Amino acid sequence: MDISSILQGGYQHPLSRSWQTRRTLTKSMFMYPIFITDDPEASVPIATLPGQRRWGVNKLEEFLGPLVQKGLQSVILFGVPFSCVKDMRGSPADDPHGPVILAIRKLRALFPSLFVAADVCLCEYTDHGHCGLLNLDGTINTAPSVERIAEVAVNYAKAGVHCVAPSDMMDGRVKAIKRGLIDAGFGNKVTLMSYSAKFASSLYGPFRDAAGSAPAFGDRKCYQLPPAAKGLARRAIQRDAAEGADIIMVKPSLPYLDIISDAAELAGDHPIACYQVSGEFAMIHAGAAAGVYDLRTMAFETAESMVRAGATLILSYFTPEFLEWL
Ligand code: PBG
Ligand code: ZN
Repeated sequence: MDISSILQGGYQHPLSRSWQTRRTLTKSMFMYPIFITDDPEASVPIATLPGQRRWGVNKLEEFLGPLVQKGLQSVILFGVPFSCVKDMRGSPADDPHGPVILAIRKLRALFPSLFVAADVCLCEYTDHGHCGLLNLDGTINTAPSVERIAEVAVNYAKAGVHCVAPSDMMDGRVKAIKRGLIDAGFGNKVTLMSYSAKFASSLYGPFRDAAGSAPAFGDRKCYQLPPAAKGLARRAIQRDAAEGADIIMVKPSLPYLDIISDAAELAGDHPIACYQVSGEFAMIHAGAAAGVYDLRTMAFETAESMVRAGATLILSYFTPEFLEWL
């Protein structure tokens, strides 16, 4: 055989296999998405997301304490209000007594070393379930949407969050949030992680169940990106980097590895995050339960594919497992 045919000599040992990896998975690469509800004592399993629960603020110490002990370094919070009055502008999003603001304060007090991010969106808090404010005809009204989303982000910053992560996909919101943070004195204190290339995916179903954020009518296709739109995704990544995003995110992850790779090329001087979303997590669990593969092996294979594509940060419901496995 020709010399140039032989590759296997380079990866015949576990250690030499590990040297074939340019970047390896570490605990600090994982950010754990958690759902906070407004019953302070809640600990309610989410049927479509194996092992995940809706938590009340009074349960956060017993829930996260052991994970922080195992090396958990960051979380991202999603609010799931049940007892509030939702309206057209998503007023409960930054209610000072609402679950997200209470959880930010609680986590900062409980775990000084934990990096606390908050998703910023209106869909959990609007009566229509869309991510922005609407015109009378049901289309997005961009300018007031962006203004309201920036206001919510600044109020999370005032509560002490380390990072705000807008997932709404309104045009111009990154610039408005960055401006708002700077003007309120948080320019050098709060990270802006933009869901930049967020696609209109069928993989958000379990999340919408968990968060009660399905739209009351229509869909999100006029603001989330069409799944086949590589060019739009590349433009959104470059726009958000230019508007002041500190971290660029791609979402979902597994069907969009090429976009993660594009982000790493286009915004190579930024950290690149990807979100292994609820449907990806449920899919991996379902496949394992059906005997298609071993759960842990597949969890590693998917997370490693994201790092290989260029991700430096992975938002994943597998975070507690990876803290055990790594
Ligand atoms: C809300 C939001 C969604 C997710 C994160 N923020 C759902 C959506 O856009 O419909 C999805 C997360 C997941 O599926 O795990 N804007
Ligand atoms: Zn939303």
